Amino acid sequence: MPSPARIVPSILSADFSRLGDQIAMCEAGGADWIHIDVMDGQFVPNLTFGAKVIETVRKVTRLPLDVHMMVIEPEKYFDDFAAAGANGMTIHAEVAPHLHRQLDRIRELGCRAGVALNPATPLNAVCEIIPEFDLLLIMTVNPGFGAQRFIEYSIDKIRRARLMLDEAGSDAALEVDGGINRDTIREVWDAGADTFVAGNAVFTAPDVKAEIAALRGKCGVFV
Ligand code: DX5
Ligand code: ZN
Repeated sequence: MPSPARIVPSILSADFSRLGDQIAMCEAGGADWIHIDVMDGQFVPNLTFGAKVIETVRKVTRLPLDVHMMVIEPEKYFDDFAAAGANGMTIHAEVAPHLHRQLDRIRELGCRAGVALNPATPLNAVCEIIPEFDLLLIMTVNPGFGAQRFIEYSIDKIRRARLMLDEAGSDAALEVDGGINRDTIREVWDAGADTFVAGNAVFTAPDVKAEIAALRGKCGVFV
């Protein structure tokens, strides 16, 4: 049984000089997946990393790797990322004109197929293709950087996303990303999300294990 509130540290906020140790700390601390933010400097105003880093992370953990692709033309990278060890790939609806085909290809590669929506993108961008995705990612900041402030009115969108998935009989994960911390997670959980990306909250914490447990605890889940 997966844990009912998945905590997914984003390595964007990790100390890269000791990435292996930081990931080991997350794994020992009870993280469910590791979130890897790929940015191309075009879809978002920041650059991060690609297949080489995914491959490096793959070698140091057995946790599923949740790759968030903030890139234009994401299909160019599907094969390389899958070969590097990604378990899930999430693409943005704003730059995926052929979502059906692209999500299908991600599944063909044996990965969890995810679709992400920026704060300004309505849920109806994905309402016709619910059977095609395994994860819906609702951005609760504008993508590009860690440690931004949670956009409060996203709560209503998360609630509507939960309804949309339930009405369609979908068991897709409902993931949120941006500004998740001890103060914001409970409201997001109550709105129906089940998978929580946390960068700044986890990696600035003095004790990663305690932080992950505290985030889960806020959702009423104690492990
Ligand atoms: C933002 C990224 C996030 C980021 C979240 O563009 O997609 O995954 O790392 O960081 P926090 O938790 O610090 O808001
Ligand atoms: Zn992300």
